[in-house]
Amino acid sequence: MSLENKRKKITVPAIIKMKQDGEKVSMLTAYDALMAEIIDMAGTDIILVGDSGGMVMGGKENTLSVTMDEMLFYTRSVSRGIQNALLVADMPFLSYQVSIEKAIENAGRFLQEACAEAVKIEGGAVMAKTISRLVAVGIPVMGHLGLTPQSMHQLGGFKLQGTKKPAAEILLHDARLLEEAGVFSIVLEKIPGKLAKEISESVSVPTIGIGAGAGCDGQVLVTQDMLGIFRKFKPKFVRRYAELGDAIEKACRNYIKDVKASNFPDENESY
Ligand code: KIV
Repeated sequence: MSLENKRKKITVPAIIKMKQDGEKVSMLTAYDALMAEIIDMAGTDIILVGDSGGMVMGGKENTLSVTMDEMLFYTRSVSRGIQNALLVADMPFLSYQVSIEKAIENAGRFLQEACAEAVKIEGGAVMAKTISRLVAVGIPVMGHLGLTPQSMHQLGGFKLQGTKKPAAEILLHDARLLEEAGVFSIVLEKIPGKLAKEISESVSVPTIGIGAGAGCDGQVLVTQDMLGIFRKFKPKFVRRYAELGDAIEKACRNYIKDVKASNFPDENESY
């Protein structure tokens, strides 16, 4: 493994240019410095500190109770592991919906206190004004449409979105509104591939899909899902690139066995 770093720092304009150049955008999540460093070294374009951290790291059932304090802690930690990737922080539930002033204050905290370079906000038309104010004051925003987990109760769970014509038309319209409001990219979560392709072709900023097919301009996965560390269930859209959960469990079993049998530490591991 080489720790030499020859890549360029990824910026918001660089992400927009990738779409113009026909280059796909890669995004992965991280919540701690160590994982962020590994993912950054691997060459991902964007590291997202998702509010999924509340579920993946905090063991919560959903993202609704994730707080600003938790997200600031995760984001600060991740920032210490990054050299090249663009660092995007997810704004937690109720940190941006209450008022535009509160949204600016909270988004600003991610940039000021946690070294984030952009924030992500869930929602379409209803968030357009907030997004355009954030962008106007110099805070880059990534949009998020389709399955927006902070609205899970409204949506009736983590279901596929945009399957019927009116809902699909609203999503297409929302994507255009977000583009007009100034987002630099849009996450499309759990919508039919055909619709995601149509949305991607109708906006100039990159779309980044999760469960939205191959027609998006980029892809994102939760890192612990794609590494097989999160083992409770595997959504259809997750491809597991490793089975680290099993490997970690096996390593721990071997360690425990060695301790119980007085096989650890040996002479070389002692002073
Ligand atoms: O919270 C998160 O990790 C996300 C991604 C799944 C896009 O929003």
